[in-house]
Amino acid sequence: MNYENILIEVDAYLATVFINRPKKLNALNKETIAELHNAFAELEADEEVRVIILTGSGDKAFVAGADISEFADFNVSQGSELARKGQELLFDFVENMSIPVIAAVNGFALGGGLELAMASHFRVASNNAKMGLPEVSLGVIPGYGGTQRLPQLVGKGKAMEMIMTAGMITAQEAKNYGLVNYVVPQEELLVFCEKLADKISNNSSTAISAAIKAINANFKDGVNGFEVEINEFGNCFDTEDFEEGTTAFLEKRKPDF
Ligand code: COA
Repeated sequence: MNYENILIEVDAYLATVFINRPKKLNALNKETIAELHNAFAELEADEEVRVIILTGSGDKAFVAGADISEFADFNVSQGSELARKGQELLFDFVENMSIPVIAAVNGFALGGGLELAMASHFRVASNNAKMGLPEVSLGVIPGYGGTQRLPQLVGKGKAMEMIMTAGMITAQEAKNYGLVNYVVPQEELLVFCEKLADKISNNSSTAISAAIKAINANFKDGVNGFEVEINEFGNCFDTEDFEEGTTAFLEKRKPDF
C-alpha cells in the first residue's frame, strides 16, 4: 500500500514505521491516523514480521501532538467523535496488537504523541526527547487515552501533576518516572531498539502475543486478568512453539521458532 504520511522499512522480521510529516513535527492529522491504522493492520497480518519499531522522521519530533489545525473549530459531538475514532483506529489498536510495538521516542512526544508512545508496548527515548500532555493549555484534556495510560505508567500523583501543569519533562525524568525504559544518545536510538527487537524475535511469537493479551487484561475494566492468564497459558500447550521450545530445552539446543 502507498502512504503519504508514513514510511515503512521491513528488514527480515523487523518493521520500522516512521511518522513522516517532519515540517509539522509529525503531528497526527486524520490521514496519518488512518494510514497508521492500515499499516499496523497490514504488518500484523504479515507472518514474517515479529517486531515493530515506531518512530518519527527527522531529529526533532516523535509526534508533537494531534494536529491542532484540524479540530480548532470543532463542537462537542465532533470533539467526542475525534477522540472515539482515534482511540479505536490507532491507540487501542496499537495496544492490542499481537506483535510487540516499541516506541522509539526521538524528540518531542507531546499530547497525542505521548499518548501514542504510551499505547505502544514499551518506550525507549533519545536523550533530546521531551514529553508531556499539554492539552489543558489549549482548553481541552488528553483524548487519546492519556488520562488513563499516564497514571498506569507513572502513578496518579505524577500524572495529575503532568496533566495539570501541561509541562514537558526530559527523557531522564521520564525514565525516573517509569514512563520510558531506557534513555540513549539520539544517534544510537534505532540501533538500541533494533537490539531489543532482536532479543524479542528469538522468542516464541505466539507466546509473546499471549503475554500481551494477559498483561493488557490487568488494565481492562471488568476483566479478570488472572483468568485471562490461565486461559492464555493453557492455549500455549496446543502450539508448535510450545513443542519446539520445550523439546529444544530438553535436547539442550536453541529453539527454532
Ligand atoms: N498541530 C499542528 N501543527 C503543529 C503541531 C501540532 N500539534 N505541533 C507543531 N506544529 C507545526 C507548527 O504549527 C509549525 O508549522 P508552520 O511551520 O507551518 O508554522 C511546525 O509544526 C513547527 O513547529 P514550531 O512551533 O514552529 O516549532 P518550535 O520548535 O518552535 O516548537 C513545539 C516546538 C513542539 C514546542 C511546538 O510546536 C508546540 O508547542 N506544538 C504543539 C504541542 C501541543 O500542544 N500538542 C498537543 C496537541 S493536543
